[in-house]
Amino acid sequence: ESAEQQAKFDQTIAAEISIEPRDWMPEAYRKTLIRQIGQHAHSEVVGMLPEGNWITRAPTLRRKAVLLAKVQDEAGHALYLYSAAETLGADRNDMVEKLIDGKMKYSSIFNYPTLSWADVAAIGWLVDGAAIVNQVALCRASYGPYARAMVRVCKEESFHQRQGFEAMMALAGGTKAQKQMAQDSVNRFWWPVLTMFGPCDDDSPNSAQSMAWNIKRFSNDELRQKFVDNTVPQVEALGLTVPDPDLKWNEETGHYEFGEINWDEFYAVVAGQGPCNHERIAARRKAWEEGRWVREAASAYAARRQQAA
Ligand code: ACO
Repeated sequence: ESAEQQAKFDQTIAAEISIEPRDWMPEAYRKTLIRQIGQHAHSEVVGMLPEGNWITRAPTLRRKAVLLAKVQDEAGHALYLYSAAETLGADRNDMVEKLIDGKMKYSSIFNYPTLSWADVAAIGWLVDGAAIVNQVALCRASYGPYARAMVRVCKEESFHQRQGFEAMMALAGGTKAQKQMAQDSVNRFWWPVLTMFGPCDDDSPNSAQSMAWNIKRFSNDELRQKFVDNTVPQVEALGLTVPDPDLKWNEETGHYEFGEINWDEFYAVVAGQGPCNHERIAARRKAWEEGRWVREAASAYAARRQQAA
């Protein structure tokens, strides 16, 4: 690694030109991207589980078809992201093995259960809504393959967000019991969704460097605020309430103020102690083990085809 290469990399970043797989990059930049893109890919895969739980119990055929398509989209997002990580030299099998061995993270939000149909609506509306706020910023991340994957992912996520809101609207405008189901779900998901943006800026060890490298364009707290500002009026439009007694509009700043997040709960969930962590990892391990013969057969077939050519 020469000073010249580093200087060229720094200039490229400063000029807002994307870094591409063949370009020289500092090892720490590569490592950070593999960490973040890998975690992101794992989140898409594990994120299929809470919603997949309701595919066989969707209330109508139309809702079932939409949910199937949506869950399939998440698998597609994982594929773009694993491919983006591979352009950095990461190995997909190695990443999956690290996930099921608890050595790589995935988003805390997917360790919460989906107890009712309203939770499926809440995931589409709130979880994918939060994901969009984070991912729109990542469309301008300095690493080309990651930024380009995010453009496509965001288009699909905005469909997911709207279908979630529409499903929530049906419940909120339904019977008293349906409206209560919608409110319960908002009550359970609101606070965990706010932690999707990561720890507060002062407690975010990776932020300063990731901002300097233009991987992150906004801080964790800035994106969290943007999500709250976008979403509170949507909750109100549904005739529902936000489970935060400290929430209030600040005329001067033009932002909502909100209560203290339970960071102890967040760190416990990230450390493996959330309500569904064991179940999620067990499901991924089972899929990995039961899919072994498919991977082996596909590799053997590809090798034979290559020999024949
Ligand atoms: N769940 C699990 N782990 C988290 C979460 C979360 N909600 N938020 C932060 N962390 C982890 C970080 O990965 C980091 O861990 P590590 O250093 O061991 O790798 C640690 O907590 C400290 O956080 P930060 O220093 O703030 O980490 P970072 O700069 O990576 O910022 C963020 C975290 C904002 C989540 C960033 O990684 C990111 O934008 N990732 C891409 C988006 C993504 O992964 N979305 C997945 C959910 S959306 C969906 O899949 C539908």
